[in-house]
Parts: sequence; C-alpha cells; structure tokens
Amino acid sequence: MKWWITCAVIVSGAFVYAQVPPANPGIATDEDYSKAMKEVAAQNGALRKSLATPSEAGALAAASRLETVFKGVQAYWETKKVEDAATAARNAVAASQAISKAVAAGDYPAATAASQVLGGTCGTCHTAHRERLTYDYYRIK
Ligand code: HEC
Repeated sequence: MKWWITCAVIVSGAFVYAQVPPANPGIATDEDYSKAMKEVAAQNGALRKSLATPSEAGALAAASRLETVFKGVQAYWETKKVEDAATAARNAVAASQAISKAVAAGDYPAATAASQVLGGTCGTCHTAHRERLTYDYYRIK
C-alpha cells in the first residue's frame, strides 16, 4: 500500500509543477532567450504607453514584469560569466525597480527618466552582444 501512496504523491506533484509556470522562468537555451527578449520588447512598449496615459496599474504591471524577466537575463549572463552583459541586465533590473517606485509615488517625470535609463540598456547590450542575421532574426554573440 505504501508504494502506491508514494507513487500517487509523485505523480500529482509532477502534475502541479507542470500546471504552475515558475514566476521567474530560467533562461537556458537560445530559444528561451529570444522569447524573453520578445516579452521585454512588448512590456517596454506597454510601459511607455502606460507612462504617457498615465495608467498607474498598467505601468506597475509592466515594470514589475520587466524586473522579473531582466533578473532571468542577468542570471543567464552571470552563469556565462560575461560581465558587461550581466552589468547591463543588472542596470535594467535597477531601472525597472526605480520605475515602480516612482510610479507608486505618483512621480511620473522620475518614472519617465528611469524608463529612459532602461531604454539605454537595450542599446548598450545589443551593440555588444546581438548579431542580426536577417531583417528580423537575431542571435547572441
Ligand atoms: C543584457 C543584454 C541585453 C539587454 C539589456 C537587452 N537585450 Fe534585447 N537582446 C539581447 C541579445 C543578446 C539578443 C539577440 C538574441 C536573440 O534575439 O534572442 C537580443 C534580442 C532582442 C530582440 C529580438 C528578439 C528575437 O529573437 O526576435 C528584441 C526585440 C530585443 N532584444 C528587445 C530588447 C529591449 C526592448 C530591451 C530593453 C528594454 C533589451 N532588448 C535589452 C541582449 C539584451
């Protein structure tokens, strides 16, 4: 009887794990990385719109998601020991946090300034580590 219960626990545990995606998905493959970047671009667009509207809820949601995704990007580069890229990602995390803080305080000029710092990190890292293969296909270098 005991083995049966153990088995049931393992199976249901695996099922629950499959149902709940981790809050901070680890980036392991090039495909994971590309997905993360596409989400960054979408959230960055949503953030800019929310700051212009302004929409507090929209800006907080986008900034918090950007913080999460960039933490994954940071971990990816730290694992690879690529210091300049890890620093760019770390700056993106810090800028996302600064945006959340400023929006929560109702300080939209500060939030917009921090969003420009965030935008600067994209170019810094892309110049060094993004290679364009075709019009809209990129890879890590
Ligand atoms: C720490 C480095 C780093 C930072 C910071 C960074 N990127 Fe990237 N990004 C890359 C690399 C490397 C690639 C190429 C690999 C790829 O496309 O998957 C890339 C690719 C992309 C792509 C193409 C995705 C695809 O595969 O089609 C988009 C869009 C993008 N980044 C948007 C952004 C935006 C917007 C920001 C800033 C808000 C940003 N990135 C910040 C490193 C970075």
